[in-house]
Amino acid sequence: MTRTIKLSDGKSIPALQWGNGSGGLNGKHDPALEYGITALKAGVKAIDTAELYKTEVATGEALKQAAFKKEDIWVTTKNVQATPEVVKANVQDRLSKLGFKPDLLLIHNPFVIADGKIAQFWTLLEDLVLDGTLEGVSLGVSNFRPQDLEAVLSVARIKPVVNQLEYHPYVLTHLQPVLDIHSKHGIVTEAYGPLTPVLRHPTGGPIKPILERIAQRLSKETGTEVDTAAVLLLWTIGKGVVAVTTSTKEHNIKKIVQVDTALPDLTKEEIEEIEAAGRKVHFRNYKEHMSKDFPAPNLPEDL
Ligand SMILES: NC(=O)c1ccc[n+]([C@@H]2O[C@H](COP(=O)([O-])OP(=O)(O)OC[C@H]3O[C@@H](n4cnc5c(N)ncnc54)[C@H](OP(=O)(O)O)[C@@H]3O)[C@@H](O)[C@H]2O)c1
Repeated sequence: MTRTIKLSDGKSIPALQWGNGSGGLNGKHDPALEYGITALKAGVKAIDTAELYKTEVATGEALKQAAFKKEDIWVTTKNVQATPEVVKANVQDRLSKLGFKPDLLLIHNPFVIADGKIAQFWTLLEDLVLDGTLEGVSLGVSNFRPQDLEAVLSVARIKPVVNQLEYHPYVLTHLQPVLDIHSKHGIVTEAYGPLTPVLRHPTGGPIKPILERIAQRLSKETGTEVDTAAVLLLWTIGKGVVAVTTSTKEHNIKKIVQVDTALPDLTKEEIEEIEAAGRKVHFRNYKEHMSKDFPAPNLPEDL
């Protein structure tokens, strides 16, 4: 059984996803195809792709070559280059690159849309759902700050079902206003960069010893080797957040699937302990526009 999370439009989204926009896959058809097939055969149930990654064709090909039916695999894509004038043609291009309709289409970034045009852009995407072009496709956003969400929500006939952004314990304090909007409007958080505290933080920071202790407990109880990355993914899912990770190493891809299919949930106390320690630090890997007109908290990067 794989874990799923309910979206506000009634669909169930796989809680653990494999992306082809990082780890050396971004912009490269062949590795995205090769590792996409490996991931699907290992048991991955959802692929995260995007126009920007140039991996949509490889995503569709991976499904075909691994002999999976589209309805058994969740596919998310994102569009980025479209201006409101060409949104319809851009959306058609997404469908033809993939070879099918995605389950979820995200606006990749608010800053690629000319100032003041986010709401107009959202309205045009909604029109494509309502006229049947995107029938059955859920709509969402990515990297949206509070002001970007408010712009869309002020006009939305269809609310975004998700906001995909960098999410892990070290950005929680900064993201709180975003998370409050998510709660109020039933928007599910999707975490990219969920492994940042164990992979990219220079020391691992204050959650490291907690993750290690929990990894030891789970290793002992399950008789398998559970690492801190697995604990962090379990924490993400435990928060009700979709975890979008990746790997090009077969043993790590298998571990990602194992997190979902073979490991138990963290306890409420463990989830809270990781969160409390994480909230005292501010450390972000993907900086881009997230602090622009949405100031980062005055917290240390480490303790
Ligand atoms: N919307 C956006 O703007 C946006 C931005 C960034 C990313 N994304 C999406 O999110 C996906 C994941 O992003 P991310 O790379 O930042 O995620 P991440 O989960 O923080 O990091 C993924 C990296 O973790 C390593 N890894 C996986 N399992 C491991 C384990 N058990 N132990 C040690 N290392 C492990 C992998 O390296 P190995 O190959 O060595 O295993 C991989 O390169 C992207 O591919 C993309 O689809 C979206």
